[in-house]
Amino acid sequence: MKINPVEIILAKRNGAKIGKEALSAFIRGYLDGAIPDYQMSALLMAIYFQGMDKDEIQALTLCYIDSGQRIVFTGDLPTADKHSTGGVGDKISLMLAPIAAACGLYVPMISGRGLGHTGGTLDKLESIPGFQTRYDTAGFQQMVERQGLAMVGQSATLVPADKMIYALRDVTATVESSGLITASIMSKKIAEGARSLVIDLKVGSGAFMPDLAHADVLAESLIDTGAGFGQKVSVVFSNMNSPLGQYVGNALEVIEAIEYLKGNPLPDTEEITNALVTQMLLNAGLATDPTQAQTKIDQVMQSGKALQKFEEMVIGQGGDPRVIENYALFDGARYEVPVKAERDGFVGHIDARQIGYALIRIHAGRMKVSDVLDYGSGAHLMTKIGNRVKAGETIGTVFANDESKAIEVSQLIRAAYHISPEPVSDQPLILKIRTSQ
Ligand code: URA
Repeated sequence: MKINPVEIILAKRNGAKIGKEALSAFIRGYLDGAIPDYQMSALLMAIYFQGMDKDEIQALTLCYIDSGQRIVFTGDLPTADKHSTGGVGDKISLMLAPIAAACGLYVPMISGRGLGHTGGTLDKLESIPGFQTRYDTAGFQQMVERQGLAMVGQSATLVPADKMIYALRDVTATVESSGLITASIMSKKIAEGARSLVIDLKVGSGAFMPDLAHADVLAESLIDTGAGFGQKVSVVFSNMNSPLGQYVGNALEVIEAIEYLKGNPLPDTEEITNALVTQMLLNAGLATDPTQAQTKIDQVMQSGKALQKFEEMVIGQGGDPRVIENYALFDGARYEVPVKAERDGFVGHIDARQIGYALIRIHAGRMKVSDVLDYGSGAHLMTKIGNRVKAGETIGTVFANDESKAIEVSQLIRAAYHISPEPVSDQPLILKIRTSQ
């Protein structure tokens, strides 16, 4: 079908529905280079404002999948995956995939890079010297079959449309659209061939969905789209009001994940990881109830099998496994600047999104597609909602390679912590779980 991109942008801008063929021609045109970034960006912004209905979301997801190849694992391999809708300090995949693989699941994980204010699993993994995330379909499939897990990015054969559009959304403020998020996530997960899928739907100040009402709309869209492709989906709604764990930043988060796998988990990351792996084991039939699932998880953590799976993945994907024992092999930061509490009181609200955006200033994330990351930059943030603090107390540390920027970021982070004179309690970490029929 021959299209005029401007007519399609105009129609969507004015609230019309885009037909399957027109959408497919637009996406193909973008991949071929016939449609430039500025027209794709304009369409994304029109979708952001006007939304998409179920048929459009299904059609866009199919366009993304069909832009590459679909993996079919042979036999009865218990393949399962999880995907997060994005958060600040969200390094859960780095622990979850090795734990799940050590429990007997096969985890074919196509992940993403940093998106908006949130960090990305691929960027974190690439902070491990030598770690490769670019694979074709066959290479990816072989790694999963051989080692039980692989974590790769979109490529020329794996959802290339999402690869290009994801990078564009990151820098054009067009992320927070249920339809665009659904197509992006579900296309990767359907193309990778995982039999069951758990979504960690983040809700709160550091998430793309600020509250449960918005999160429910996204959950519905993910479950409906999954059903359209015969994909079972469980959605775990989790609280993203405080950055997860204690570290935000690529290498820093990998180190935190290694510490977790060595048996030093933090309470929040542990609760979420356990809840998600439990759901994966239940969906795949590798556990009959949550207690049995938890026993399996505890066994692979205590025996060191989960850490061993992480090491196998690092070696399998070309990374330097010595990082597991020697954190000095990661890129570091020359400057450390403390973040001090503004007043006495209790941490009442944390603007986690502001923290994510502040860290982009020291290159923990991107402002434009071509930006090069500084893997060593980031922050140590040890204070959670409800914690009592004293004026001037150190509540965090910024790590950066530019001192003046580190000072600026420290001030921005300080402003993101709202301190209340009254005691405050946060919502639970796991808000609710929905599973498709
Ligand atoms: N994760 C994705 O893969 N895509 C999105 O749009 C958001 C989170």
